[in-house]
Amino acid sequence: MADNQATLTVDGKDYQLPITEGTLGPSVIEVAAFQKAGYWTYDPGFMATAPVESKITFIDGGKGELLHRGYPIDQLANNAEYLEVAYALIHGDLPNAEQKADFYEKIRQHTGVHDQLRKFFEGFRRDAHPMAIMVGVVGALSAFYHENLDVSNEEHREITAIRLIAKMPTLAAMSYKYSKGEPFMYPRNDFNYAENFLYMMFATPADVDYKTNDVITRAMDKIFTLHADHEQNASTSTVRLAGSTGANPYACIAAGIAALWGPSHGGANEAVLEMLDEIGSVENVPEFMEKVKSREVKLMGFGHRVYKNFDPRAQVMKETCDEVLDALGINDPKLELAMALEKIALEDPFFVERNLYPNVDFYSGIILKAIGIPTSMFTVIFALARTSGWISHWLEMHSAPFKIGRPRQLYTGETHRDFVKVEDRK
Ligand code: CMC
Repeated sequence: MADNQATLTVDGKDYQLPITEGTLGPSVIEVAAFQKAGYWTYDPGFMATAPVESKITFIDGGKGELLHRGYPIDQLANNAEYLEVAYALIHGDLPNAEQKADFYEKIRQHTGVHDQLRKFFEGFRRDAHPMAIMVGVVGALSAFYHENLDVSNEEHREITAIRLIAKMPTLAAMSYKYSKGEPFMYPRNDFNYAENFLYMMFATPADVDYKTNDVITRAMDKIFTLHADHEQNASTSTVRLAGSTGANPYACIAAGIAALWGPSHGGANEAVLEMLDEIGSVENVPEFMEKVKSREVKLMGFGHRVYKNFDPRAQVMKETCDEVLDALGINDPKLELAMALEKIALEDPFFVERNLYPNVDFYSGIILKAIGIPTSMFTVIFALARTSGWISHWLEMHSAPFKIGRPRQLYTGETHRDFVKVEDRK
């Protein structure tokens, strides 16, 4: 219900635009009346456009606040496990003890993938980027679950959400094992979610007593939590747009993975490490910074469309980064270089004036490198974690009537002209 009205005046005629207040954040002006007035709104990059109403995640970019279902991200990351956060994203509240046990059990039951899916991996070159494999194999899951693909059926939607969250670590680890030429490891359901992922990544069949380091397992789980959801970002919007056509959820999540891959989004964590490789050593930092300032290159892992003061995920990630480097006693020159870059960027007026701060991907890349995860897997891990957010938004969309997403455009191409036969064309 509109609480207030704005007035649009076009060619001397007034149109009333309802203003609706949310529970937090700016109110929205409904712009449907623009169409009545014969106009479309123009907002490249969706800088001021809210295409959906959502109850899942709230971000206040100015304050550096991120809430999932109302819970602050630092409280979740420091106290809850990723799967509890996934439950809250899907169901609206953190689970009580019984709900938690039930949800975890359901996830455990679905960690395996159909044996036939192995053949999909074999179709890829060993040097294929694991994100390319993930786009393919996650989309291919829809070919295995015909019986639960009715998107209008709530039970089907729920089991699909469980399957996706349960299988992502397995598929992600398989994409790594395939690139290494090592055998795939079956999930260990006696391990927790993060532990099981690390096991499937790093154990081999010879490691009968495989154990993970607690600091690393906890850091991995925090990385998952800190990437779980982020409101209507590019990949989530992609999942919603694909879902708005009634497409099956596996295809929608595959579309989200594709959108996440770009270096301006989830691909940034991989790009941070590539940038560190390019810079080489601390003495080359000033020269690199000159290139950033002349807009030749971007400082990857810095800046954010929404956070213009600090990224609250980056704060927790930095603490975790320190813990991991300390626990592992790591003394890698690349990490030293990253810290030198961070220091300069936080003090340099170019970055300060533009409110460019380290984002979550700056520190997550450093932690993942310290854990021994190869750079090409960084964005895969982001995708694994973001699956709970993507599927929550897809579920939210399907829980109420929605329209197919169909933006309009400002057309600036040729006006009407007549067909010319090929022999008469200039
Ligand atoms: N390095 C250097 N300059 C930058 C950077 C950067 N990383 N980011 C923004 N700027 C400059 C930009 O050139 C512009 O300067 P000016 O006004 O003088 O032309 C100003 O800052 C504003 O930038 P913008 O491009 O309008 O900002 P945006 O909101 O469109 O872009 C962004 C946000 C995240 C795409 C961008 O900051 C960026 O490309 N960062 C590097 C990639 C990265 O780390 N992405 C991960 C984001 S966090 C994880 C996720 O959510 O996926």
